Amino acid sequence: MKNIMVIGSGTMGNGIAQVCAESGFGVILHDISKFQLEKAIQTIQTNINRKKAKRIISESVETILKRISLSTSLEDAIEADFVIEAATEKKEIKAAIFKELDRICREDVILATNTSSISITEIASSTNRPSLVIGMHFMNPVPVMPLVEIICGLETSETTLEATKKLVVHFQKTPAIANDYPGFISNRIFLAMMNEAFHCVYEGVGEPEEIDKVMKLGFNHPMGPLYLADLVGLDTLLYVLEVLWDGYRDSKYRPCPLLVKMVNSGRLGRKSGRGFYDYTTEEKL
Ligand SMILES: NC(=O)c1ccc[n+]([C@@H]2O[C@H](COP(=O)([O-])OP(=O)(O)OC[C@H]3O[C@@H](n4cnc5c(N)ncnc54)[C@H](O)[C@@H]3O)[C@@H](O)[C@H]2O)c1
Repeated sequence: MKNIMVIGSGTMGNGIAQVCAESGFGVILHDISKFQLEKAIQTIQTNINRKKAKRIISESVETILKRISLSTSLEDAIEADFVIEAATEKKEIKAAIFKELDRICREDVILATNTSSISITEIASSTNRPSLVIGMHFMNPVPVMPLVEIICGLETSETTLEATKKLVVHFQKTPAIANDYPGFISNRIFLAMMNEAFHCVYEGVGEPEEIDKVMKLGFNHPMGPLYLADLVGLDTLLYVLEVLWDGYRDSKYRPCPLLVKMVNSGRLGRKSGRGFYDYTTEEKL
């Protein structure tokens, strides 16, 4: 396997491309937006430079960067030996990409998706190769986080799983294997906790600072759940909670009314300047 195509060059795509290039693969980094691609390559360069300065990598920055080529045409997937899709989290977008990839890619090529909430089985159904479709859920920030959750759809073959596990290990990361149910393992557990933290604010059990303090100092979490929620984006969390609520109809996933109200009012967390904390004035923890 020589070339990996990464589809989508946003937050996750540029991190995945960096990890692939650092692991010695040729990378075709694809996006529909030229602007995003240029931004991505700058981010990758900055990150690799930082690692080089800290002597974390031995190869030269130029050698690693040379492995990455930028693409705005999905037809370049003809050169790919493995594809990792990290485009915008929308079912229609992913279905269209996978349908096209199925037409363009060699018939033995594995098509992985970095989706955090969409069913792998459903994405696979837009191809004629569901046994070769798999979830590869990297964590943010990709170059730093050691885990990749691998999700098997209903039709994913054992060979596809083994090849994907091998690739994750080659990236010097650790795979955790899950089956395809809403939220997989990570978001199923994570969102239940986050929703409970939102309810704690909603019901007045404690102020955000107190809730975060309890989880940080009492349970050794590196960040409190509400601080983390602001960082991830409250709209994103609401979207994933809705997927879990639709999938299980279990009341623990019923999005907290306070979260819904905050998202509707445009309080989305750090990116909008306000969430559970106010970032327009001084930043609080
Ligand atoms: N952000 C996270 O913390 C996180 C964590 C794990 C998984 N994910 C998943 O990773 C994927 C990407 O998320 P992100 O946060 O990087 O999003 P993002 O918005 O930062 O980037 C998405 C990129 O996809 C591109 N894109 C949109 N339509 C496309 C198409 N048809 N073809 C090619 N590129 C297209 C956009 O131009 C953009 O550059 C999503 O499936 C998301 O659920 C995100």
